[in-house]
Amino acid sequence: MSNQTKPDLMESLISLCKRRGFIFQGSDIYGGLAGTWDYGPLGVAIKNNIKKLWWKRFVDDRDDMFGMDAAILMNQNVWRASGHVAGFSDPLVECKKCKNRFRFDQLPGVTMAKNAEGKNSWQMSKETVCPSCGSEGSKFLSEPRDFNMMFQTHVGAVQDDSSISYLRPETAQGMFVNFKNIMDSQHPKLPFGMAQIGKAFRNEIAPRDFLFRVREFEQMEIEYFVHPKEWEKVFEDFRSETKAFFSDLGLGMSKVHELEVPDGERAHYSKRTIDFEFDFPFGRKELSGLAYRTDFDLKQHSEFSKVDLSYYDEANKERFLPHCIEPSFGLDRAVLAVLADSYTEDSLGGETRVYLKLSPAVAPFKVAVFPLLRNKPELIKKAEEIFKAIKKEIPAATFDDNGNIGKRYRRQDEIGTPYCVTIDFDTIEKGAGVTVRDRDSGKQERVGEKELVAYLKSKIN
Ligand code: GAP
Repeated sequence: MSNQTKPDLMESLISLCKRRGFIFQGSDIYGGLAGTWDYGPLGVAIKNNIKKLWWKRFVDDRDDMFGMDAAILMNQNVWRASGHVAGFSDPLVECKKCKNRFRFDQLPGVTMAKNAEGKNSWQMSKETVCPSCGSEGSKFLSEPRDFNMMFQTHVGAVQDDSSISYLRPETAQGMFVNFKNIMDSQHPKLPFGMAQIGKAFRNEIAPRDFLFRVREFEQMEIEYFVHPKEWEKVFEDFRSETKAFFSDLGLGMSKVHELEVPDGERAHYSKRTIDFEFDFPFGRKELSGLAYRTDFDLKQHSEFSKVDLSYYDEANKERFLPHCIEPSFGLDRAVLAVLADSYTEDSLGGETRVYLKLSPAVAPFKVAVFPLLRNKPELIKKAEEIFKAIKKEIPAATFDDNGNIGKRYRRQDEIGTPYCVTIDFDTIEKGAGVTVRDRDSGKQERVGEKELVAYLKSKIN
């Protein structure tokens, strides 16, 4: 476990991510663009591994799920029907002294309370000060106003109200508007779900904490349709499936917590929400959500589009609007949880080392192959031959002959490679197999060349 203080840990993690090619600040050479991050080769490998695990658990291993990849740009009426045009906003305040802007609900001492008319309203306390210049909140912060977080754009050459579109703030609506297409083309019986992984965009007032709150991110969402009487059972099923998925990622489950979101704090469409929170280095924060969206979305889209989205149950001769359970995962938050949870410092052989204790399923490389020395052609030739054989069976394998062996081990530890295979003189002179080093213990064992691929596969699967 890391012995660093938590803010230091985030700094070390961000620096490791940049140095080793996981994640870079977006538009880096131009001074960056707040709330955007670019994934490099190792970051995209982790991201793809998480997507694969998600798709396997929630789509491929089931027979009631339909995959989707809907367009990001949608007809503006989609967002009127969904409630996002009217209500997808955060409270924004400006400091009259320093002119900086903040999300009001995230300032210290701000709470939600009922006003004189019995409506929910934000209240400041003595603790509430401008986070930038420290001015007293009640004197210097403006009245909060609703700031819509959707990025607006225009589609086509004419820029008027009719050409307005938005970068989607959730992938969910791409599935609701295709409900009828799935019904008509796939003829599913209830219950069934639609699943999609894709980009979402939110013009967050205060992006922060690395990948945690960003303006462009990916979601992995499911809209699962049920008979209204069955929502509770399905909600419970997805509750345990969500935890099983976090365990697939190798997350320490003692850091995952459930929060029953109380009345008045849920999204407008939800009758019940559980947030799955994670102990990030900067505090316990939402990692994913599970919501009972009732028939809110299908009802709204039926009304706004004038298209009948009801379902006819032949067996019971009953027509109704299905209700929806929505497990919604933020992919970037999952990447951050995996990285932060795996960041480890210990001492090995009398030296301090930093390594990522990633589970093989999410690690960018499962195996690294080295020749013991880089200037011995016979070692390199044999190492390349063994590497080729491994790569055929384990594609996420890498070859490394840079620097000395100690540096290579440290580099592979830092990027979380669980096993390193070294070809030495005993391999070529005595046919004594290779050494396989375990990342976490640093222990090495000799494994015969013939058994090597099967041995590695048994370790990583
Ligand atoms: N369709 C439901 C929905 O979008 P949400 O709670 O607003 O619900 C779902 O978002 C998940 O998306 C969150 O649990 C989080 O993992 C991720 N997410 C939301 N906003 C984000 C942001 N600004 N940056 C990174 N991830 C975000």
